[in-house]
Amino acid sequence: MKEKWWKKSVIYQIYPKSFKDSNGDGIGDLNGIIEKIDYLADLGIDVIWLCPINVSPMMDNGYDIADYYNVDPVFGTNEDFERLIACAKERGIKILMDLVVNHCSNQHKWFQEAVKNPEGEYAGYFLIEETSGKEPNNIRCYNGTSAWERIGESNRFYFHSFSKEQPDLNWANPNVRQEIIRMMKFWQKKGIAGFRIDAIGNIKKTKEALAQTILPTDGTDGMVSVDKYVLMQDGIEAYLAELRDEVFERYDMFTVAEVSVPEGKMEEFVGEHGFFSTVFDFSYTDMDVEKSNGKEWKKRFTIREMREKIFASQNMIEKYGWGSPYLENHDQPRSVNKYIPEESIGYESKTALGALYFFLRGTPFIYQGQELGMENYPFSDISQIRDPFAVQRYEQSVKNGENPQKDMEYFRARGRDNSRTPMQWDESVYAGFSEEEPWIAVNPDYETINAKAERQNDKSVYHFYKKMIALRKQSEYSDVLTYGDFSPIESDEDALIGYYRSNGEKRVAVLVNFGEGEAAIPKQLANGKRILDNQDRWNTERLLPYQAVLIAEGE
Ligand code: NOJ
Repeated sequence: MKEKWWKKSVIYQIYPKSFKDSNGDGIGDLNGIIEKIDYLADLGIDVIWLCPINVSPMMDNGYDIADYYNVDPVFGTNEDFERLIACAKERGIKILMDLVVNHCSNQHKWFQEAVKNPEGEYAGYFLIEETSGKEPNNIRCYNGTSAWERIGESNRFYFHSFSKEQPDLNWANPNVRQEIIRMMKFWQKKGIAGFRIDAIGNIKKTKEALAQTILPTDGTDGMVSVDKYVLMQDGIEAYLAELRDEVFERYDMFTVAEVSVPEGKMEEFVGEHGFFSTVFDFSYTDMDVEKSNGKEWKKRFTIREMREKIFASQNMIEKYGWGSPYLENHDQPRSVNKYIPEESIGYESKTALGALYFFLRGTPFIYQGQELGMENYPFSDISQIRDPFAVQRYEQSVKNGENPQKDMEYFRARGRDNSRTPMQWDESVYAGFSEEEPWIAVNPDYETINAKAERQNDKSVYHFYKKMIALRKQSEYSDVLTYGDFSPIESDEDALIGYYRSNGEKRVAVLVNFGEGEAAIPKQLANGKRILDNQDRWNTERLLPYQAVLIAEGE
């Protein structure tokens, strides 16, 4: 197993709009992050993943880039970004940017040129089809509408996997790929350490996706999901190899891709000479979702299923490469609401959930506020929702005569805005995030859940995360907790999730009772040394409800 700087790292994801506002416009910014850099250094993280900061109309909060070379004024300037890189570096913290290159914004000058000039060079940067007046085919984009949008009054249509404001780029065009590579090198020179790569599985389209043919439908709307025609298509490998060879590998970057990779392709994607350092696995973070009629709905699951999914994910990634365990991100609701029944949400269950994923094999990610145990927002009305995808879905339901309250119910449990509410720094107005009204409402629980209160309380979610980070990085168990093999601990207890991390020298058991009742501790572990525990009471035979312990064997 090759040692790499990023294998020992803990990554902290920042959603810049919601982290810290330094200039009183109600929107977070780069200087806000600089103000809080010591908070991050003190927590002990090594790397920041910054969600997009480039110039953007912000239709999708930056995942619609209109200028790849400049920072959006709402976040600051390129100089502010350079200062952030420098002051993070002083504290040993590296920065990852979000690489959003499946699509750009319809405000990007390439797209504007393509619209103006159908014969010009930039028309070839996008996927544009001319028809006799109707959409080329019946593909449905992720927002539930057609993936094709008419250009003005013409009979030309362009393809978009996401919203119509996010036209897909034409990766088959070598000039597009060269532009992207040039841009990646520009940011690398500024000192970034790598990229989180957005929607990269979508870049290669099948012939059918772009053909003027009606495809077999998968819903009652006569349309068919874009997935089948644009996700992980053969030939994507050549594009990814180009990025790896020209940028990632050349500069020893860390890369984590947002892509679902089938087992047969894992080696090629994350193996020794893979395209990426690692990929995100959605299998257990999306286990509460089912799709019907082109929409996502909330689904129930059991702890047993959760354990199976996590173990399957670990076993698979261990065979081929390196993992990236995470519970939350800006597209997910707060994990404590997803995995813990409402009546049991509290310090014990939040820390048990933390321990459960944090010691899995891979580089762990923490999403801003997760270390405080932040919770979902009690959304009750569409006017509170800012996520454009949710608003579009709601409007579509109204238009189709469906009950939009069902969508609201889904947003409350699973909407992306749940994790996008402002970071809760203290109990002052707007949770210390801003002095002005924020772009999205602060969670009303901020007076009790905030960084100041968490830091003052020794027995808090924050301090438990801090301990987990220190144990992983700066203890005699660092090596085994980083590079050690993963193996499940078998048990008949329904709510017990346990696994070993072991190398030739040490074996550490991570045992989490993820249930409301007590759970028997596997006998072989009764006499080990407890190196982390989220509770004060200890009994060598049984774990208390939501007790999480790490036990080093034979010590
Ligand atoms: C995935 C990103 O995480 C999400 O926030 C975004 O809306 C889509 N890709 C489109 O870029």
